[in-house]
Amino acid sequence: MITAKSLTLEEKLKLLTGKNLWQTEDLDGKVNSIFFADGPHGLRKMKKNAHGYYENIPSIAYPNLVNIANTWNTSCAYETGKLIAEDCVENGVDVLLAPGVNIKRTPLCGRNFEYFSEDPYLSGILAKNFTDGVQKYGVGACLKHFCVNNREIGRYFQSSEIDDRTMHEIYMTAFEIALTSNPVAVMCSYNPVNGVYASENKKLLTDILRKEFSYQGLIISDWASVKNGGKSLGAGLDLRMPYSETAYDELKDAYDKNLITDKEINNAVNKILETANKLQTMRGKSKITKDVMGRRKAALAVAEESIVLLKNDGVLPLGGSSVCVIGELNRRPYIGGGGAAAVTTEFVQIPLNSLIGEILSESVICTDKVKLDCLDPSHNDREGILLASKNDVSIVLVGNSPATEIEGHDRETIRLSNKEERLIKDVAATGSKTVVVIEAGSAIDMTPWINDVQAVVFAGYLGDNANEAIADILTGKVTPSGKLSETFPLSVENTYCKTDTGKGGVEVYRDGLLVGYRYYDTENVPVLFPFGYGLSYASFDYSALEIEKNGDTDFTVSYTVTNTSAVDGKEISQIYVKDVVSSVFKPNKELKAFSKDFIKAGESKRITVNLDKNAFAHYNVISGGKYVENGEFLIMVGASCTDIKLKQKVSISLPAETQYSVI
Ligand code: BGC
Repeated sequence: MITAKSLTLEEKLKLLTGKNLWQTEDLDGKVNSIFFADGPHGLRKMKKNAHGYYENIPSIAYPNLVNIANTWNTSCAYETGKLIAEDCVENGVDVLLAPGVNIKRTPLCGRNFEYFSEDPYLSGILAKNFTDGVQKYGVGACLKHFCVNNREIGRYFQSSEIDDRTMHEIYMTAFEIALTSNPVAVMCSYNPVNGVYASENKKLLTDILRKEFSYQGLIISDWASVKNGGKSLGAGLDLRMPYSETAYDELKDAYDKNLITDKEINNAVNKILETANKLQTMRGKSKITKDVMGRRKAALAVAEESIVLLKNDGVLPLGGSSVCVIGELNRRPYIGGGGAAAVTTEFVQIPLNSLIGEILSESVICTDKVKLDCLDPSHNDREGILLASKNDVSIVLVGNSPATEIEGHDRETIRLSNKEERLIKDVAATGSKTVVVIEAGSAIDMTPWINDVQAVVFAGYLGDNANEAIADILTGKVTPSGKLSETFPLSVENTYCKTDTGKGGVEVYRDGLLVGYRYYDTENVPVLFPFGYGLSYASFDYSALEIEKNGDTDFTVSYTVTNTSAVDGKEISQIYVKDVVSSVFKPNKELKAFSKDFIKAGESKRITVNLDKNAFAHYNVISGGKYVENGEFLIMVGASCTDIKLKQKVSISLPAETQYSVI
């Protein structure tokens, strides 16, 4: 195998920066090159067109990461990773630039749709499974964006000013968990953290990523995030992407001035060479299990599991009434957010009204009850309102286009447009039972209209299967089983960050640990829908909590969930932990485990989850590591973060020599 030793200085410096927009150097065929492409909502591979400009090749569009998170299902994350890996293999892509595990600190962040959650544990577990799916099928994954990049405004220059404990417990935990799947690469973020650009931040790249988290893979820049090649290399960055005219000279200059050493150059070069070889071996083992249509079809189950039923006064599932669909999204649903993760799909959607009509007329249960009148959608509001007045049920389709939720921009409001809010209210005023379906990538303020409507469905961004998945849920062909991976606040003013954008080059993370539900729950701030919330057509009871201690900080938590309805369904149960008395500040409760289980109508399931040290530890800034303080902890099993069904205390008593003295 070629190593840095057998390369000239010129070759090595060339290798440390890209060959072009998407590939690393191959030094005229002497070494393997790496081909990168964006994801994760489909393969966004770019190719030069006849005029020499890069354009996306067509691809399957998958449910966005917001949706994967709303499934709370590790198999859905794995399956999506696997499907997109097959797209990569088929198109000669070595590394998928995904998943993104940045925390949703504010619902305004324009890239929330490409991240998992406001909770680091949920984000980390799902990212790990997604990464496993990608890598087991022969393609490298790249975790991004390391670190503390939580809004788009000012992302190129605004410094995130943050304390060590918050950085570890909230913003790094997702990376730490996902790193257990050994992603081939980690991409640093654009922004400075505590005044130093992530791309040249030695504390982040070397002290934490390499040493504390023992990460062995490749550390790469975000595209054009490097300001000074020498400083980045010195801080621990291996590869600067993409190619730039000045990158080579910058490194040569730093070398000539003794600002970077041969050792640093050789280490980074060897990482790139090792990674390229590893990827070639992985590619040799890759497999394609499905053709394009097969993959698209397989993603339908994930899409269905990701839809969250937020309100239902009994109008859903549809049946026994005349139904109309209102809104242009009937034919052209919003399938994903915008920016680097946007996919160019050639798939033509079947209109939602046709799909609903087909399912209802086929339904054995409903045929004698349904007076089906699935009419064409309206193209203007007056037509829509007229349609609504003639139908028992109106499905109103609204949401955020990929121009609203997009990389590089933050939303200015979390409300729907005035036009959409007006339409919802006018339709509801006709007396037709109103079902609002929202296609968006982050929280929506529904307070102006939610009391006027009978049902609300949060579809997220579902990809190519959007209309099919929505139709299956609305008709009851599939029982909804998604839950929110992000709190829906009453309004943006009710969020910790409000509309503050940290203008002025520095954004102070004053909220500390109080991100998402940790804030609302600890400070008793009312919300529209809490973290972990979602309805079903089934109903579930929780009972018989038992907790067994297996070691100093290891516990097995068991409980029974019973499906008390006549409908089969899946329930997501969530385990939260509260430190009863602590010598440091802690949020009121924190998610530490979860389980999603299929339970047949009328049946029960005994569920078992394990808690380890991570469920009880906090980051101790004095020792610079995880610390479990002896005492009592309350274990809570809930259907959401505010709907706790069962609870029991456990006690931890580690040897005295492991403990700091307490007051
Ligand atoms: C984005 C990355 C993306 C890269 C390459 C950057 O602007 O922040 O997420 O992978 O571009 O397209």
